[in-house]
Amino acid sequence: MCGIVGYIGDRPAVPILMEGLEMLEYRGYDSAGLAIWENNKLLCIKQRGKIARLKELIAHTEYSATSGIAHTRWATHGEPSELNAHPQMDGSKKIALVHNGIIENYYTLKKYLEKKGHRFETETDTEIIAHLIEEAYDGDFLEAVRVALLELEGTYGLGILFEGEPGKVYAARHGSPLLIGKGEGEYFLASDAAAIIRHTNQVIYLKEKEIACLSRDGYDITTLDRKTVVPMVEKLSWDLHKIEKGGHDHFMLKEIYEQPITLQNAFRGRLDEPAGSSRLNGLKPYFSLLRESNRIIITACGTSFHASLIGEYLIEELADIPVEVEYASEFRYRNPVINPGNIVFVISQSGETADTLAALREAQRKGAVGLGICNVVGSSIARETDAGVYIHAGPEIGVASTKAFTSQVMTLNLIALMLGRMKGMGVDRGTQILKEIQMIPVKVANILENEKNNLIIKNIADQYYQWNNFLYLGRSYNYPVALEGALKLKEISYIHAEGYPAAEMKHGPIALIDENMPVIFLATDDPIYEKIISNIKEVKTRGGNVIAVATEGNNFIRELVDHVIYIPPTEPFLVPLLSVIPLQLLAYHIAVNRGCDIDQPRNLAKSVTVE
Ligand code: G6P
Repeated sequence: MCGIVGYIGDRPAVPILMEGLEMLEYRGYDSAGLAIWENNKLLCIKQRGKIARLKELIAHTEYSATSGIAHTRWATHGEPSELNAHPQMDGSKKIALVHNGIIENYYTLKKYLEKKGHRFETETDTEIIAHLIEEAYDGDFLEAVRVALLELEGTYGLGILFEGEPGKVYAARHGSPLLIGKGEGEYFLASDAAAIIRHTNQVIYLKEKEIACLSRDGYDITTLDRKTVVPMVEKLSWDLHKIEKGGHDHFMLKEIYEQPITLQNAFRGRLDEPAGSSRLNGLKPYFSLLRESNRIIITACGTSFHASLIGEYLIEELADIPVEVEYASEFRYRNPVINPGNIVFVISQSGETADTLAALREAQRKGAVGLGICNVVGSSIARETDAGVYIHAGPEIGVASTKAFTSQVMTLNLIALMLGRMKGMGVDRGTQILKEIQMIPVKVANILENEKNNLIIKNIADQYYQWNNFLYLGRSYNYPVALEGALKLKEISYIHAEGYPAAEMKHGPIALIDENMPVIFLATDDPIYEKIISNIKEVKTRGGNVIAVATEGNNFIRELVDHVIYIPPTEPFLVPLLSVIPLQLLAYHIAVNRGCDIDQPRNLAKSVTVE
C-alpha cells in the first residue's frame, strides 16, 4: 500500500527518487524518506507528512549520491512519524530498507530477536526485517537476505541498501508488486510504474519470492531457493494517468478491483485457525469487558454507517450481544443513555469525520470505552479511541467509498467471530466460519472477473442510465447493502435512489412502482429468500423493472425478473461482501454513461471534517 522508488546509475539519485515519490503521492501518504550512498556512507533522511516537507528538508543540500532507495508510507504498524517512516535500519545501521506490505508474524520475530539482544526503536514491522537480515549476515549479504525472508509470513516488496556493498541495490518481492526499470547504464526500482515511466518504459516485473540485485552494470535475479531467473523485459504502453490508476479509468474502479486483495489484508495474520477464532490484539485490553458486555453501540456516518448496520446483525447473531447503531451526528446531539463500561465502537475510513469524532468524545465523556475501526493509521479517531482495529484497506482516493466498506464489514466479521468464540460458539462452528472467510477474496475476484468477461452489469447500466429514480431492496444482511447500493448511485450519478428493507415496500414505496421505476432486489439464498421472491412478484405485477442480485445456480429467478446478476454462494452473514460488488459496479457504469465526475462527485468530500 506504500510506494517504493529506487535508482542506481550515473545521474544524481536524489532528484530522481524525489520525482518518483511525487509521482506516487496522489494516493495521499503520511510520511516519506530516502536512503542514499553519500560520500561512502549510508545516509537516511525521513520526514513525517507530505513529500513537500521532505523536499524542504533536503532543499539546501547538494547530494552527490548516484544510488538510493526511497519510500512513501501509508502507516500500518505504528503511527505516522519520522521514526516510523522508512527507510528502517538494523541495529548496526548498516542496512537500510524500505518495505511495502504487512509482516504477519512480526511480533513473534520481534520477541525472538529481542532475546538475541536486538533493540528496536520503532513500532513498525519493517524494522524487524532489517534486524533479521543483520542477524543472518555471515559475510554473504544476498544469502542473509534469503535466510531472513524465509522467516517472514505476510507480504513484502523491499528495496535494500547495505553498507558493505555500496554499488548495489537489492530488491525482493512477495505479494506486493515491484518492478525494475531498465535504462541506459542505469536501473530503477518501483512499486508502481508511474514512479519511473518518465525515465524508461522497459520493465521487468519481479515475480513472487524473487530477489534482484541491481548494479550499474546490470541485474541478477534469483529465487529464494537460489535458482537463477531469466527475466522477461516488457514494454509499458500505458499513459501516465492510466498507470496511476492501475490501468483503470478511475480510482473508484481501481479500488473496486482491489477488493480481493484489500479483503485479504483485512484478515491477514488475524485468523486463529487452531482456536477457530480471530486474533485482534488491538482489542486485547478490553477482551474481558467485551466478553461481559451486555450492550454495544456502533456509531458512524455515510458508508461506514451502513457497515455498522451489518455489524449489528453480525454481533447479535454470532455473539448474542445486543447492539444499537446510530448516526454519529444524531448520537452526539441527543442525550444517549450510556453507562460506564458500555462499549461504543466508532467506524470511520478517514478517522477524521467531525461527527464521528464528536460522538466518540461524547461517549467517552459519559464513561464508555471507545473502540475504533479505522483505515487511516494515526488519524484523530484512531488516536482518541481507547483501542481498536485497523482495516488495512490502503489509501482510498475515490470519494465514494468501496474497498473501505468491504474491509470494514470483514473486520466486523472478525470481531463478531471473536466475540462469538468468547461466548457460546463452539470451535467447529468457528472453524467453519474461518474457512468461509478465507474464500471470500476469491469469490469477489470471480464476480469481478465475470463482469470483465461478460459485461453483464455494464450492459444493464447502458440500458438504465437515463432513468431518474431507483429503488434498492433487501432483507436481513442485504438490507444495509440496499442502503449502500442506493448511496453509491446517488453519490456518483446524481440519480435519486432509495434503499429500503424489502418488506417495508408495502408501507409506502410501492406507491411509486410503475414502468419508470427500476427496482434492484438483493435476492441471494438465505432463510428469507422466499419472502424476497414475494416482494419481487409484488413489483412485477405493478409493471416495475426488476434487476436481481441472486446466488449462482438459481435459474428459477430468471423467469421472474428482467435481469439477473449472479454472485457465488456463501454464509448469509458474509453475503454483503459479495452482494455489494455488483451494486458498486452498477453505480460506476451508470455514472460513467452520464458523464459524471466519478472520483470527485459534485458537493462531496472524501473526509468531512466539518459538521
Ligand atoms: C463522506 C464520504 C463517504 C464516507 C463518509 C464517512 O461523506 O464521502 O464516502 O462514507 O464521509 O466517512 P468516514 O471517513 O468517517 O468513513
